[in-house]
Amino acid sequence: APKAIIAPSILASDFGNLSSECSNVIKEHGADWLHIDIMDGHFVPNITIGAPVVTCIRGSVERSADWSKGVFDCHMMVAEPQKWLEDFKKAGCDLYCFHYEAAVTSKDPAVSPSQLIKNIHALGMKAGVAIKPDTPADVVYPLLDGDVEKPDMVLVMTVEPGFGGQKFQARCMPKVAALRERYPELDIEVDGGLGLGTIDQAAEAGANVIVAGTAVFGAESPGEVVKMLRGTVEK
Ligand code: DX5
Ligand code: ZN
Repeated sequence: APKAIIAPSILASDFGNLSSECSNVIKEHGADWLHIDIMDGHFVPNITIGAPVVTCIRGSVERSADWSKGVFDCHMMVAEPQKWLEDFKKAGCDLYCFHYEAAVTSKDPAVSPSQLIKNIHALGMKAGVAIKPDTPADVVYPLLDGDVEKPDMVLVMTVEPGFGGQKFQARCMPKVAALRERYPELDIEVDGGLGLGTIDQAAEAGANVIVAGTAVFGAESPGEVVKMLRGTVEK
């Protein structure tokens, strides 16, 4: 399986000190990527931040040349994922992860998941496809098979998107296992309720990109949590 990537969700950080929270979690606590939750109040019943804030954080977080550190993993919980591509590229987004459910219900008939992936790649970003707990894993198979531009990552949500601090839904693990069996080299991300009590199940199923908000930013020693999450995935 691909290597472990620990991506703290900044949603659980202190937004009043966002820049230092973001640079510390990588430089001091040893995290790899930053998971940035973008919510528009339409796709999910909550609002977070937009591209201008991402631009500000980018100023204090460097991306390493090999993309192993400081990658901005933007989780786009938005109803119209096609709308924000250029803005997020300009803001410093590296991986633009849209929701499959939004792409297939978009008001714009020209927006399909495969077209979005092409447009994301054309801008020089990596593309991710996210699925909610009730969306089956096999909707992404056609995107990963055959002669099309493939997503670079699949995000299997382990809570209903919209809020941090929810309970991990173990019922999503068979989807991770099915994806891992079919795609041994794929980056598979899990997001929602991950922490020291749930990481075993996610690692066992085959997830390698681990999002953790509350578990990292709410910890006494975030660095210890990052290390233990990584250790479990690499075991
Ligand atoms: C939920 C977000 C998650 C969330 C994770 O809609 O996509 O990234 O911030 O937070 P925790 O780890 O606290 O469940
Ligand atoms: Zn997220």
